[in-house]
Order: sequence, then C-alpha cells, then structure tokens
Amino acid sequence: MACTCVVGLQWGDEAKGKIVDLLTDQHDIVIRFNGGANAGHTVVQAGKTFKFSLLPTGVLKPHLTSVIANGVVVYPPRFLEEVNNLRAAGISIADNLLVSDHAHVIFPYHLEEERLNEQGSSQAIGTTGRGIGPCYQDKVGRGCGVRLGELLYPDHLRTRLHAIVPRKNQLLRALDSGARGFDPDTLCDEYLGHAEKMRPHITDTTRLLLQAIKNGKRALFEAAQGSLLDVDHGTYPYVTSSNSTTAGVWSGSGVPARNLNRVVGVIKAYTTRVGRGPFPTELNDGKDGIGERIRQTGREYGTVTGRPRRCGWFDAVAVRYSAAVSGADELAVMLLDVLSVAKEISICTSYEWRNRRLEDFPSDAFILDECRPIYETLPGWETDLTHCRRLADLPPAARRYVERLSQLLDLPVSIISVGPDREQTVFC
Ligand code: IMP
Repeated sequence: MACTCVVGLQWGDEAKGKIVDLLTDQHDIVIRFNGGANAGHTVVQAGKTFKFSLLPTGVLKPHLTSVIANGVVVYPPRFLEEVNNLRAAGISIADNLLVSDHAHVIFPYHLEEERLNEQGSSQAIGTTGRGIGPCYQDKVGRGCGVRLGELLYPDHLRTRLHAIVPRKNQLLRALDSGARGFDPDTLCDEYLGHAEKMRPHITDTTRLLLQAIKNGKRALFEAAQGSLLDVDHGTYPYVTSSNSTTAGVWSGSGVPARNLNRVVGVIKAYTTRVGRGPFPTELNDGKDGIGERIRQTGREYGTVTGRPRRCGWFDAVAVRYSAAVSGADELAVMLLDVLSVAKEISICTSYEWRNRRLEDFPSDAFILDECRPIYETLPGWETDLTHCRRLADLPPAARRYVERLSQLLDLPVSIISVGPDREQTVFC
C-alpha cells in the first residue's frame, strides 16, 4: 500500500498543484476523484506555466498514468481543449490519460441552468459557472444523468437525449420564459463527435485502479477545491457539489480509503476564498490595506474565472476542523513568501459568537457568518523568502510562524513553499 492524497484544508486554491507535481515522482498513477472544470491547478515547470481545470496535474509527466475517476463531472469540449493545449506545448497525451466511463457528462443545458439559477438570485452561491452543480444534481436525481460510457453508443445516446432534453428545455423556460432551448439531435451529433475523440481515453478506471494497487503501483489522489467546500463537511450551502475532502476518494474512485497511508493537508499561510459564504478572518481593509497587499503579492485571482479572491488571515479554528475531517497526517504550508508584506501577522485561534467563545468550527454557515475572529499576533519578517531552500534559510520570525501553525493544528509541517517554482521549496 503506497497511496497518498493531497487535499486542500481551506476554501480551495491552496496551491495543491505544486505539491501534487512535487510528489508525482514517488508515484505511478495520479487520480482526480471530484469536481470538474471548476478546479484551477497551476504548475510551473521548466519556466513554463501550465493551467488545468479538468485534467490531473500528472499529465505533465507522460510516464505516469493520469486518471479522471468516476466522481468527476466531465465537460467534453473542455477535456479536448486541455488535451490539445498540452499537445501543442509538446506534451505527449495518449493512453497515459484515462477517464472513467462512469464519470457524468456536463451538457450545455447544465451551464444554462446554472446561469439562470445564479443570476440575480439572493440565494446565489457565486459558482464558477461550469455546470458543476446541475450536473451533480442530475447524477443524484438519476432521471437525467448521462455517463461518459453512454456516449460510445450512438443509438442509446440519441434515445436518452430525446427523453432528457425536452425536460431540460421545460425547466429552463420555467426559470426564465425567454431561455434558449436545445435540440436533442444537434446535441447528440455534437457529443458523438467529442466521444469519438475521447474514445481512446474512456475506460473502467475503478477496475484499473484496483488492479494497479493490487500490483503494487503507487497512487496519488489529488483533491480538487478545498475541504471547507465539501458538500457534506464544508460551509454548506456555500460549497461545491462534491466531496472535496479525502472522503471523496472512496466514492469518487472506487479505491477503499484504507489504502491511503499518507494524507498531505495543503494550507496557504493565510486564507482566501472565492464566491460567497462566511469568512471570519476576511480582511476588508481597503485598497491600501493588508488584504489588498496579500491579493496583489499572492496574485490572488481565480485560475478558472479570474475573479479577485477574498483574502484574510489564517484561521486555525477552521483548519483544525478540516484537517481532522480529511485525516491529514502532515501539512504543506504554501505561499509563505507572500506574508513578507506584513509587519505583523495574525492567526485566528478561536471565535467569539453571541458573547461566547467558540473553540470548535460551527457546523452551520449562518452561525459562522456571525463569528468574530479572536487573534493572536506574531511579528512579521518583512524580508524576501523566495531564495530560501532550507529551514535554516528562513528568518527566525518566519520559522516561528510556521511552528505556531504546526502547534495550533497539532500536525507536523513537511513542506514549506516560498514561490511557484519547484525549486522554491523547503523540505522540513
Ligand atoms: P461550483 O463548484 O462552480 O459549483 O462553485 C461552488 C463554490 O465553490 C463557489 O464559491 C466557487 O467559487 C467555489 N469553488 C469551486 N471550485 C473552486 C476551486 O477550485 N477553488 C476555489 N473555489 C472553488
């Protein structure tokens, strides 16, 4: 057994892509098990920046097998676009990239449904607009869900779309009387075209993974989004529609969780969030404030949507909870270099709620929304860290900050990242 899971412990964008990339050398297979093209992974390799939203980070290493497992929702045009972009950059993509025949398919009506649900609604989540929620809704609702394997059977697909698309058109018109409708035959032809191109990659990935693990292959699971966006364990309803904690590994890949013997919890040295939802440590301190300086220095804009990310101090209450839910064994602390902009650095160690002190993360978003952070403040270091390669290279204040995080979370820190490049890494 040598399976690892890399999981974000905040609200996503913890720079998991870099950690996955660093760990790929110790593994044979890299697997995505949740989410879809809502994720944003950035990997810098040999000075080139690669951005993915759907493909596993492993595809940059053609000697590895990269798997999009059953728990992912796949938008075929995006899959093909990312594959074509990589090929254009000289990266070989062949049978090293596999996608589950059980993965559910995103259709344009999902994107439209999401757009109509989100626009102008007081209940909007602030989604990425990639059709993720409506596709998972159809999966769980069963009547309208289509799996990738079905795209390989033209007659079957046409029959299904003739049953599904009129229902979808009705729904869209109920949401907005002027909504556009879709034609089942046009959609069917379009998706059969995508399926032909995807055919070499589509397979029963569960069987493949179970066999590979039995044969001693080392699997690396990369969670998309962050644990606090998990549909069951996150800040519901301001979450994504899948299990983005390690809980998603089993259902989303078919690999029993007992095979995981290493869970790397990835945290930013501060906190960010995109979309709506409670965020107790958010810094709304104006254009010259520390929140904005973190955003600028950390280039905190969404990989997928380009939206400015909300920025704030590290929240140890939230991460203590998410680390426990995800079963983190160790921590990778990312973007420590960004905090060089701060004279003093605060860490939220508990909350105040209705004149009470809370040590535990509340289980309801509306309660979290009323929580005020209680901070402890540490001195900053105000020097560039991007050249540091060993623990001893870090200034004492930076080391103290990392040690304090480790203490508060009761977990060892194994990796500290001080820049986007592979080399800008301190192994502890
Ligand atoms: P959805 O996943 O597009 O349905 O969006 C639901 C919520 O999750 C929104 O707040 C999004 O901003 C957030 N979200 C989805 N994917 C990511 C991600 O990869 N990083 C950070 N936030 C994400």
